[in-house]
Amino acid sequence: MVKMMKDKLNPDKLPKHIAIIMDGNGTWARRRGLSRNYGHRKGAIVLKDIMLHAAKLKIKYLTVFAFSTENWKRPQEEVNYLMNLPKEFLNEYEEEMVSEDIRLHWVGSKNRLAEDLIKQIERVAERTKANKGLTFTIAFNYGGRDEIINAVNNILKEGRKEIALEDFNQYLYSQELPDVDLLIRTSNQVRISNFLLWKLAYSELYFTDVLWPDFRPKNFEKAIIEYQRRERRFGGIK
Ligand code: FPP
Repeated sequence: MVKMMKDKLNPDKLPKHIAIIMDGNGTWARRRGLSRNYGHRKGAIVLKDIMLHAAKLKIKYLTVFAFSTENWKRPQEEVNYLMNLPKEFLNEYEEEMVSEDIRLHWVGSKNRLAEDLIKQIERVAERTKANKGLTFTIAFNYGGRDEIINAVNNILKEGRKEIALEDFNQYLYSQELPDVDLLIRTSNQVRISNFLLWKLAYSELYFTDVLWPDFRPKNFEKAIIEYQRRERRFGGIK
């Protein structure tokens, strides 16, 4: 048994916004002779556990990368499976989100997404919008460059010729989210992969070789403890 490290967490120094790149579902499945889709299914269950744990720890924002604008390049069968996962996730865990005071939010492009999927996400987001605990954001059909270009095009459509740094955020899909404090990526991949580019500017990065289906609340806490050891300077000096 690995000892829980909760006692070392400083509840007064929690990262406000944690983002996760949930990598390694395919590797996890392959090592067991299972299909990649089985790995994604297991990944969704792990995601539910981490979402509930983040809410319990009183983290304010958790954002997860569930489908990138580049994931359309995967085999059709896998894309179909991934497209269906948010529906299953919400069917299975909607009531828990309501009872645990979790607000559902989505960031990404509507381009190519099925109407019924968008409707379901919007319905649960509406139902949970007054919840005051964790804001749980699913980045689905999301790409960081796509988000920035979409913002720029909307600015141009308004006929503006210039934009102030502090005004740019309001054009982003992720306009409601604060800057990311801690980015976690699993499966020994050391990349940003076009995730939340604007909001990651000063994030602390945490990489682990644990595969996403093996990621547990204790691994999540370990990442937070590591974050709490870091000294954040935002370009200044101590
Ligand atoms: C990357 O692993 C993972 C994904 C592209 C999908 C992540 C999705 C989930 C964990 C579940 C999503 C849940 C909801 C609510 C939509 P990979 O398949 O690239 O792994 P590999 O690098 O080992 O092949």
